[in-house]
Amino acid sequence: MGVALYPGSFDPFHLGHLDVVEEAVGIFGEVVVGVMVNPDKPASWIPADERAALIRESTAHLGRSVCVECFSGLAVQAARSIGAAAIVKSARTGGDFEVEQQMAQMNRASAGVRTVLVFSRPEHSFISSRYVRQYADLRGPMDRELVPAPVARAIAARRPS
Ligand code: PNS
Repeated sequence: MGVALYPGSFDPFHLGHLDVVEEAVGIFGEVVVGVMVNPDKPASWIPADERAALIRESTAHLGRSVCVECFSGLAVQAARSIGAAAIVKSARTGGDFEVEQQMAQMNRASAGVRTVLVFSRPEHSFISSRYVRQYADLRGPMDRELVPAPVARAIAARRPS
């Protein structure tokens, strides 16, 4: 089916993201995870190159089906630069869906790039990078698995003892 681009800020990459990568590999065969800037939240928690390295470690079990790259600019430009058949995104809630629908229609109308929505496992559908960051920064309990092991280790290393 060709390569798919899965763009996101992944700050940090969590288990819902990992589900989407695994699903997208099952559908497309090959996925490029694009670490990008969301203009609505430009300041990063983990630097982009470190995020990319953590995603590489977290998806190592998928072998050569997944590659991780940092991109600047628009998602459609990144999609074109790798010859992507489609952009893969996900939505957890109705609110997410509305945002994704608008971006997908914008990207289709302006650049002819299609978007396919892929969903995480239901047990991970409440996880958001935003609340993982808050829990980490405000020393919330992180007993439940929220992020892949390499990301959990990186978060633990950031926490002041
Ligand atoms: O993980 P996020 O923060 O929901 O990812 C959003 C992201 C980075 C995929 C989105 O902000 C994006 O596509 N940024 C690149 C700029 C762009 O293409 N904007 C136009 C959207 S119609």
